[in-house]
Amino acid sequence: MLPYAPFLLFLPLLVLGQDGGLSGPTTSTESLGYSCDTSKCQLPACNCASTSPPGGLHPSEVPQFIVFTADDAIQSYTLDAVNQFLAHRKNPNGCPIKMTYFTSLSYTNYTMVTDWYVAGNEIADHTMTHVGTPPAEEINGNLIALNALAGIPLSSIKGFRAPYLNYSVETLKLLYQSEFIYDSSAASSIPVTDPNTDAYWPYTLDYGMANNCLQPGQCRGEPKLPGFWEIPMYSFFDKLGSRGPHLMDPWLDAANGASKINDQDTLEYMQSTFNAHYSGNRQPIGLYTHPIHLAANYPGVNTPKSTINMINAFLDWAQEQQNVWIVSNEQLLDWVQHPVPVSQLDRVSSLRCLTPQVDASAKICNGIPQNEDGLLSHCAFSDFPFYTCYGCPSQQPSPANPNPEQQAPSGQGLRHRLPSNCATAFWDPIAGNCICNSKTCTFFDNTRTIGPNGANLTGGGTGTTNSSQTPSYVPFNGAVPKSLVTAGVWPALILGFVGWLIGACLLGMSWTP
Ligand SMILES: *[C@@H]1O[C@H](CO)[C@@H](O)[C@H](O)[C@H]1NC(C)=O
Ligand SMILES: *[C@@H]1O[C@H](CO)[C@@H](O)[C@H](O)[C@H]1NC(C)=O
Ligand SMILES: *[C@@H]1O[C@H](CO)[C@@H](O)[C@H](O)[C@H]1NC(C)=O
Ligand SMILES: *[C@@H]1O[C@H](CO)[C@@H](O)[C@H](O)[C@H]1NC(C)=O
Repeated sequence: MLPYAPFLLFLPLLVLGQDGGLSGPTTSTESLGYSCDTSKCQLPACNCASTSPPGGLHPSEVPQFIVFTADDAIQSYTLDAVNQFLAHRKNPNGCPIKMTYFTSLSYTNYTMVTDWYVAGNEIADHTMTHVGTPPAEEINGNLIALNALAGIPLSSIKGFRAPYLNYSVETLKLLYQSEFIYDSSAASSIPVTDPNTDAYWPYTLDYGMANNCLQPGQCRGEPKLPGFWEIPMYSFFDKLGSRGPHLMDPWLDAANGASKINDQDTLEYMQSTFNAHYSGNRQPIGLYTHPIHLAANYPGVNTPKSTINMINAFLDWAQEQQNVWIVSNEQLLDWVQHPVPVSQLDRVSSLRCLTPQVDASAKICNGIPQNEDGLLSHCAFSDFPFYTCYGCPSQQPSPANPNPEQQAPSGQGLRHRLPSNCATAFWDPIAGNCICNSKTCTFFDNTRTIGPNGANLTGGGTGTTNSSQTPSYVPFNGAVPKSLVTAGVWPALILGFVGWLIGACLLGMSWTP
């Protein structure tokens, strides 16, 4: 255990230990009772739980996805922790890495949620106050508060993960009612090398759950939630196989039944599990983090440098192999819904990276640090003071009142909340004006053309945090790799805008990216 006491003030909920520990399989063949009619259940709306890749693709034509997620509060310390692993990396198409942040709101600095989202990452729901088997107000209050105070479009909050991975059938039904696209709380806990593996590709619940089948009311066809996806969380396994699963924050576990953490042992089993997936059916693997456990500069946290280096070494090693992509859940799900072979990955819009063109000198509170500088409101609540573009609420948001009345600072007007027909980066909450219309709202496409698609498509090992290092990914078409943007907290001058783009397209907005 790491010494947490000094900062319990800020983060009591984040640090109650490793939420999401597993001690063994969560499914058995008898409890499963799963059957799915593949003639009726077809993509993109329906997908049967299967260990084989979607769309009938052969594993050699399938990208190996590594999903990167973080849970709990978003604040400078947790984003710094994530950036240690991602800021200096790129995917094989030259785009910065995007990840999924399951956000809970206690101790969250709302403006940093805006920034992280505008930089192209996925923001998802983790309840307001971090409770297991949450009531509806905890789930829906998170949507309302993130929309009101962080300017996250409701349409782009697609996913949910239960705190402590503690959910019930009722939770899944609540998510379905609130029109979430997916849950990602269930575990795959049997290795892919075992004939009874439960490492299914993401699937819809048209025929019920196929993971966590030892939980009451799940599996054997229940619950039936048509079109609602489960993205299982894929465990790593040490030498004990199904008796040695490691799910969240695997680096906090001792491996192989030992009593002490050993980074080298962790690296070895992460690599061997990766190899089993990569040389098999290429089910995704996941790095599911609680970033506070990896914070390098949080007062009182003493994350061993060796652990941070080990995780980077793992990602370097993985990225040197062909067709390995580090992605958010929404990127993974987009590919699963529209599976194409690696030779056509340049068609997958969610893997591209687009930069909104906002004049660097514009003074507009829009989630881009250079634009919003000096425009944030400081909401001085005693639990955790936070900043926002959208005006301070008169009281702290709570499940009972997730969007309290706004309190205008003296001499200033009320801030305007994001309307559903404007994108966060183009919304001016002070003037109440969308600076984006079909003529003025444009994007740079920073995606590198994928030349001979599929040929030696690697992200390259760019894992040292040495920002002077040049990228080593393999270029296509003999193109010279563009130099990396200097790594830092905000490498996001190259902004990925894909999630927003998809959301905006659904709203029927028009412009030319
Ligand atoms: C909160 O956000 C503000 C504005 O970006 C930043 O200056 C401050 O350091 C952040 N604090 C934390 C703890 O995240
Ligand atoms: C799950 O959450 C509920 C409600 O917070 C709690 O009563 C229960 O003990 C939790 N179960 C586990 C296994 O943590
Ligand atoms: C792919 O990589 C292999 C081994 O590194 C190399 O021999 C081959 O020439 C590469 N092919 C292309 C198209 O770059
Ligand atoms: C970073 O890279 C530069 C150039 O390769 C090298 O001179 C320097 O020693 C490296 N620094 C660290 C801390 O590795």
